[in-house]
Amino acid sequence: MELLESAKLSLKQKGYLDIKTLDIDYLKEIKRLKKEKNAILLAHYYQIDEIQNIADFVGDSLALAQQAAKTNADMIIFAGVHFMAETAKILNPTKKVILPDLLAGCSLADSCPPDKFSEFKHQHPDHLVVTYINCSAEIKALSDYVCTSSNARKIIDSIPKDQPIIFAPDRNLGAYLNKETGRNMLLWDGACIVHEAFSMEKLINLHKAHPDAELIAHPESEAHLLKVAKYIGSTAGLLNHVKNSSKNKFIVATEAGILFQMLQENPDKHIIPAPAKEDNTCACSECAYMKMNTLKKLYLCIKHELPNIEVDAELAKKAIVPIERMLALSK
Ligand code: 13P
Ligand code: SF4
Repeated sequence: MELLESAKLSLKQKGYLDIKTLDIDYLKEIKRLKKEKNAILLAHYYQIDEIQNIADFVGDSLALAQQAAKTNADMIIFAGVHFMAETAKILNPTKKVILPDLLAGCSLADSCPPDKFSEFKHQHPDHLVVTYINCSAEIKALSDYVCTSSNARKIIDSIPKDQPIIFAPDRNLGAYLNKETGRNMLLWDGACIVHEAFSMEKLINLHKAHPDAELIAHPESEAHLLKVAKYIGSTAGLLNHVKNSSKNKFIVATEAGILFQMLQENPDKHIIPAPAKEDNTCACSECAYMKMNTLKKLYLCIKHELPNIEVDAELAKKAIVPIERMLALSK
């Protein structure tokens, strides 16, 4: 709990929790505008607490894509990062999809430039391409299947064993999946800065101080960390695990935003964020892109219906194919 409070204090100091945004008017206005515009607010578990609190739906990448695919709302407000809103737009070409901050990108998506990836793909013409949803529409358009960390195993297992596969862009998730599925997928060399920021040295010391704590991790984390984790899963998987476990102390190796839901669901459990290499005030790992969205930006974005996500129609036609394959396999 102490670490969580210091994480919140750090967010406040960095301006993520703008004191003015705690003014009830923003909350009231966001709710009013959502209703007036028949808009749905979808939020990822890494968003700041206040945004998770007023969202119509909070979920992991798969659940958010599924919600986007089935919503009847006229407008989708995506409190997440660009690739998530872009996926929602590809699934809803006639709807307005807005993102509070257009600069909310993703280091993993950035680690896979389409021209380089296209070249790589052409060097391996006999391979199918499975890509993690954390990539651009251009990369999705070059893919046979899209997956998330909660359905990757299922998607890969649906492909014949002797079929060679390229997996992109996350080398850590790819290596983990190779181990889990017994495949030898060709991996693109990309990574998430947030999940590569954990310090093993600090983690070992933390574990010495809390020998009864179970280490659980997101599969975007590095192999040496995953090797000692007792449970590995997507954000939704981690939340389910903590809720259903008889244990009551956990060290959680993923972005610190997940602690909000985890503590709400498990008020009596002791949840400790895994420490980052860099000394920061929250003593955890935060995604600066996810934290770009604030209540104030959210309010302005709904009010002005901007920034608006656009995807070229020809590109969207290609990118939707592997996304729909994923959704069909994830029912
Ligand atoms: P999931 O919520 O699907 O586990 O993804 C984590 C993540 O890094 C999103 O950017
Ligand atoms: Fe991208 Fe990592 Fe941030 Fe997720 S946590 S949005 S993978 S940079």
